[in-house]
Amino acid sequence: MSRPLIYAANWKMYHPPAVAEAFAERFLELTAPRERRSLWFFPPAVSLLTVARAMARRADVRVGAQNVHWEEKGAFTGETSCAMVHGAGGRGALVGHSERRHVFGETDAETAKKVRAVFGAGLQPMLCVGEKLEEREAGRTEDVVARQLDAVLDGLPPEQVAALMIAYEPVWAIGTGKVARPADAAAVHAFIRTVFARRGPTSRVPVLYGGSVNAGNALGLLAEPEIDGVLVGGASLDAEGWAEIVGMGG
Ligand code: PGA
Repeated sequence: MSRPLIYAANWKMYHPPAVAEAFAERFLELTAPRERRSLWFFPPAVSLLTVARAMARRADVRVGAQNVHWEEKGAFTGETSCAMVHGAGGRGALVGHSERRHVFGETDAETAKKVRAVFGAGLQPMLCVGEKLEEREAGRTEDVVARQLDAVLDGLPPEQVAALMIAYEPVWAIGTGKVARPADAAAVHAFIRTVFARRGPTSRVPVLYGGSVNAGNALGLLAEPEIDGVLVGGASLDAEGWAEIVGMGG
């Protein structure tokens, strides 16, 4: 049987509630649930409740936050707790997206705390990892990815290690139009699985690819058995275009 596929939309700082609601209505008209396919939407925090409500009747769709704080509550102006995400109908969160790491300076240690908090709130983390262009050119891709993974895995009990979802997103491919070649992405995905395997036998961890995925290249990526899905920014913003992509593969 073919592996389950995951299609995740990261809307970044796009789609306020009214736009997100119109998207959801159109997307639901255009798509129907499919066996062995799950869909995730990561809208901006202010649109999460709207999207979660609009998508509630579709069991194949889950909604999550793009970022969370690790504390449960307190004087943290501008932050969102995991309990708040849960209360708004969220089922998960992205953690360690490259824009969090490289635009907002989030560290490996903070990323690890966030993953623990997400699990602690009963939510599903999707941990993002990936190297910068200079790191790839210096032959350091595996070192960087292993460091980002180990920082998180070290603090987790085995059942949470086994429950992680990973998104491999090379920083040089995000929003640049430069997609990784499917075989190159697949090689890093295989490496990610070896990092998990070093910690003992685990079930197959889902590893998504992200970075300039679009309707023209999604099928080639999904044809790689190591690639379990896609995490998509720009090409997920339009309901028609995203419905087309989630119809590919599988
Ligand atoms: P992109 O973004 O598809 O626009 O390159 C991917 C991401 O940042 O998750």
